[in-house]
Amino acid sequence: MITNTELEIKGNLFPGKIISFSQIVDKINFTTENGVILQVTIIRGSVVRFRYATDNNFEKDFSYAISDKGARGYSELEVKDLEDQYEIITKKIIISIAKANISVKISDREGNVICKDDWGFHWEQSYEYGGNIVKMSKSAPQGECYYGLGDKPMHLNLKGKRIENWATDQYAFGKDQDPLYKSVPFYIGMYEERAYGIFFDNSFKTFFDFCNERRNVTSFWAHGGEMNYYFFYGPNMQDVVTRYTDLTGKPELPPLWALGYHQCKWSYYPESKVKEVTTKFRDLRIPCDAIYLDIDYMDGFRCFTWNKEYFPDPKRMVEELAEDGYKTIVIIDPGIKIDDEYSVYQEAMENDYFCKRADGPYMRGKVWPGECFFPDFTNPEVREWWAGLFKELIDEIGVKGVWNDMNEPAVMEVPGKTFPDDVRHNYDGNPCSHRKAHNIYGTQMARATYEGIKRFAYPKRPFVITRSAYSGAQRYTSSWTGDNVATWEHLWIANIQAQRMSMSGMSFTGSDIGGFAEHPTGELYARWIQLGVFHPFCRTHSSGDHGNQEPWTFGEEVIDVTRKYVELRYQLLPYLYTMFWEYAEEGIPMLKSLVLYDQLDPQTHYRTDEFVFGNQILVCPVQEPNAKGRRLYIPRGNWYNYWTREYAKGGMEQWVDADLDTIPIFIKEGAIIPKYPIQQYVGEKKIEELKLEVYYKLGNKEVSKVYEDAQDGYDYAKGRFSLRSFAFTGKENEIIIQQHKNGTYITEYERMKIEFIGLPFAVGEIEIDNVVVSLNDLKYDEKNNTVVVPKDFTELHIVAK
Ligand code: GLC
Repeated sequence: MITNTELEIKGNLFPGKIISFSQIVDKINFTTENGVILQVTIIRGSVVRFRYATDNNFEKDFSYAISDKGARGYSELEVKDLEDQYEIITKKIIISIAKANISVKISDREGNVICKDDWGFHWEQSYEYGGNIVKMSKSAPQGECYYGLGDKPMHLNLKGKRIENWATDQYAFGKDQDPLYKSVPFYIGMYEERAYGIFFDNSFKTFFDFCNERRNVTSFWAHGGEMNYYFFYGPNMQDVVTRYTDLTGKPELPPLWALGYHQCKWSYYPESKVKEVTTKFRDLRIPCDAIYLDIDYMDGFRCFTWNKEYFPDPKRMVEELAEDGYKTIVIIDPGIKIDDEYSVYQEAMENDYFCKRADGPYMRGKVWPGECFFPDFTNPEVREWWAGLFKELIDEIGVKGVWNDMNEPAVMEVPGKTFPDDVRHNYDGNPCSHRKAHNIYGTQMARATYEGIKRFAYPKRPFVITRSAYSGAQRYTSSWTGDNVATWEHLWIANIQAQRMSMSGMSFTGSDIGGFAEHPTGELYARWIQLGVFHPFCRTHSSGDHGNQEPWTFGEEVIDVTRKYVELRYQLLPYLYTMFWEYAEEGIPMLKSLVLYDQLDPQTHYRTDEFVFGNQILVCPVQEPNAKGRRLYIPRGNWYNYWTREYAKGGMEQWVDADLDTIPIFIKEGAIIPKYPIQQYVGEKKIEELKLEVYYKLGNKEVSKVYEDAQDGYDYAKGRFSLRSFAFTGKENEIIIQQHKNGTYITEYERMKIEFIGLPFAVGEIEIDNVVVSLNDLKYDEKNNTVVVPKDFTELHIVAK
């Protein structure tokens, strides 16, 4: 046996020669002469886990990120013992492992190298903390691009960046600032149009370097734990994201109202102020579904209490708001005020639920209520208790959603803005220090909150929003991007962050519209709301210390712009809900950055501003003051300008006019876009008719889907949903729309109003399921090119005059 020091460079230790190899079903172990074990686990044909031990010893296998619902299983697996290497062959990839030093090379079945080790696995022993600083370096061929990693406020393509994951309360963060609130150690690499992903499932502080330190090398490392990463092969980038999302978990469908518009501020109080705001939305006819109570609703910032002076009768207020269509959402922070008279504090003390320092004292820190202790959400018993605390808020008072903040966890007036490293955590029975638990603390808090709301809101669906998150948090919660600033640069950042979160498995995200810190101009607010309605989570929020940020504070023009876009969001609810369903069902990212949309077009690899909302709507925000439009890249294919209905050829840059009331939007040809009537809140109106906007395309079939259900509750899981699939086929003088229906839910409406856009001919005759129906009976409107048809047709033929 050789010693570690023989394989040491600058304090780094390296694996030696492989001396043994074994396989038990899907796990293949390689052991080296110096006590390194590489365990390769085949999860699916294109998903493989790589796990390294040193000293011949693996840790107990435990992860908060991995979902037990993900797909498992493969159809092919062969291991070859060759002269210099082992080869593991799955249906999709070939993994070669060098006998000399355990280094890994992954190729596709055609032999194209997808990802290969540079130095590969190496480590440094940490005398100070014990354990290892585990490292991995991979060669980075020229031209490789990198994406993903959660909420990083920097160029979408991460080439040249060095990144740190350590959840941090970053008030008024700036462009390129790092780390921020979330820790999502997952990235997508793409070389020669083939994409792969790497998820480094390690909750310690992690780093990623994309050709910053060395031009031809990417690397990632952690301040503890194991080198434990999952490799996902595409080659399609979207498949990389869906496979990652499948592994780390998909969300449930939110209640439909949660996809409406939300209004927030720090803080709306007293009750009369809340009512003034909610009434004003109705008076101005700006749709709104949710109103937030920030920390001032509490009694001295004690979670689960009310300030009875501001809110004398919360139950009545919440009921009255509900009658007006509003769902009340309240903030709950992790810091529990040290106060012997406060029941939440007492219970936690009695049961030993608060985090403690290594030597025994409680973890004491200042947050909004002053000196606090903090529940250890990594303890399952604490989560159970915490979930139970929501009974009053949800079951008795009728609150519909909970906003978890400050859960990095944030501590005020201390170095590092969080717990010190020595704080102890249960980590679900794997006791550890804060170094390991820090990045998942917020997710475990959101998880406990989710479980509480779900318990008491049942049979309705829960709604949670969190600031901090680790991979997998999407199973429990939506998120927002934290304390941004009312600047144009932050509008750019918000756009990037929402796209990046989508490609990191957490689509249900949005920014504080208008900016949290400082005050936006009316113009900036207008441009932000235009973008914000195309983010899966859509909420205006502000710190409130610089004036108001309700749409009406900016004057008539901005009120009109806000109404126009919030109305558009409400019209597009069936489209948005269908996007969400695809995300919940298959892990498909709701927003598609252009590179995710069309990676085969090299023009997309460095684009940041344009994105596809769902599958068929291209959006590109105006991000400069005084703009009358902007240049933008329209992806390949043909599109229609949503506003002018002009046909636009993709695959090139274009100037697009966009006055203050216009954000450039393009619809893919062949798309069928579903719309509901405008409502002031979800469920305000009976939906009498589903509108379908049909964008003509000559040639190949285009499929569009519409998913609907009861908009809340779990009946959909028993098959009570309605999934309509429309296939559009366009010819020179005829179009055919075929409809295929799934599910047993009966939609309220009986008919559909179809509008034809870009039709190259005048309608002469319409056949429904092979029967000619008179244009009169179909209320054919020649001027607007619309007809009204019964909802459950199988096939429509529209024939030229
Ligand atoms: C934090 C949150 C912010 C909230 C404030 C007061 O700064 O990020 O959204 O309004 O705390 O609770």
